[in-house]
Amino acid sequence: MKNLTTTASVLFLRAAWGEDTPRAPLWLMRQAGRYLPEYRAIKARASFWEMVRTPELAAEITLQPLRRFPLDAAILFSDIMTPLPAMGVPVEFNPGPVVAEPLRSRAQLEALHLPETQEIAPYVAEAIRLVRRELAGKPVALVGFAGAPLTLATYLVQGSGSKDYEDFRAFLRQEPALAHRLLEKLTELTIRYLRMQIEAGAQAIQLFDSWAGLHDPDTYRTFGLPYNQKVLSALAGLGVPRIYLAVGASHLYSLLAELPCEVVSVDWRLSLAQVRPFFPAHTLQGNLDPAVLLAPLEVITQEAHKVLRAGLGGPHIFNLGHGVIRTTPPEHVAHLVEVVHQFNRHSEEPA
Ligand code: CP3
Repeated sequence: MKNLTTTASVLFLRAAWGEDTPRAPLWLMRQAGRYLPEYRAIKARASFWEMVRTPELAAEITLQPLRRFPLDAAILFSDIMTPLPAMGVPVEFNPGPVVAEPLRSRAQLEALHLPETQEIAPYVAEAIRLVRRELAGKPVALVGFAGAPLTLATYLVQGSGSKDYEDFRAFLRQEPALAHRLLEKLTELTIRYLRMQIEAGAQAIQLFDSWAGLHDPDTYRTFGLPYNQKVLSALAGLGVPRIYLAVGASHLYSLLAELPCEVVSVDWRLSLAQVRPFFPAHTLQGNLDPAVLLAPLEVITQEAHKVLRAGLGGPHIFNLGHGVIRTTPPEHVAHLVEVVHQFNRHSEEPA
């Protein structure tokens, strides 16, 4: 019930459920993070895992961008790798995720433990409850999230960040049966983890499939799509809109249209007007190039207007095409928020 009561008044949730709102709600991926001095101040005295595993710190970092900017949604401060240690896989951050012993063998895979819901990350549930308490009565929704099975598997098999993840792409071809076994386990983990977040008070969920775009359509159809369908459909009927994000995946859009979700988050490679025909029944989220926020204010205004106009063909949640870049001046974010706030979608002509 707690997830339903505020829908009518929260602009983000109205747009997520498909309403063509007079103003585009906005939030930014990685809106909490190293571009904010107040985040760096916490980071100076706590490790990344301490920040994620201490509910008071995770809640505080989640709320930091909201104290500066009138954003329409908060995203829980955590990471897509958060649930993996509960499977028995140690993960370090340097600054991206590192898995010291990449998963390649059947023995390693069979040893993966499928944790009960309460075992996965109880501190995340507590952080969600703390944030919801702080946001009570405010027109701001809390977005929970998880990594998509294929993107989690990318890190588990490759072991760390990489330009093209060749070891992972080779693994899918050399050991397809093992790959499917891994993806099945990650799918079940992700369903439990997201249900827990919704139960704790997350009002929308985003599935981050950041590395889906590495693959050709057949490979995505085999190793990505069915597992995403399974995760997203397991969350149907729980009263929260489902957002799916893939990056660099324009070549997969006709496949992504089959996903059971309300919102598709797109990167900057195509304009929203070009993307809209693939997703006639979805809300589009996006898609300013994060690099624009490094440019002078006039350029930000111009480029944000382009995105806003391209989004007029249907429901739109304003966001970046990917996360905020570390060197972004916070004043530039403040300016962007103002530009989006002043743009009345009902008195504008489509681009
Ligand atoms: O504001 C938010 O968006 C919420 C916080 C958030 C983080 N990670 C915090 C974080 C979210 C949603 C994520 C998800 C995540 N993590 C993704 C999917 C989104 C995407 O960017 O595609 C991915 C691929 C990861 C894996 C990951 N974690 C990487 C590649 C890195 C290094 C990134 C970097 O900025 O150097 C991390 C670490 C991480 N996760 C940081 C933050 C703020 C940086 C840690 C630090 O402060 O040193």
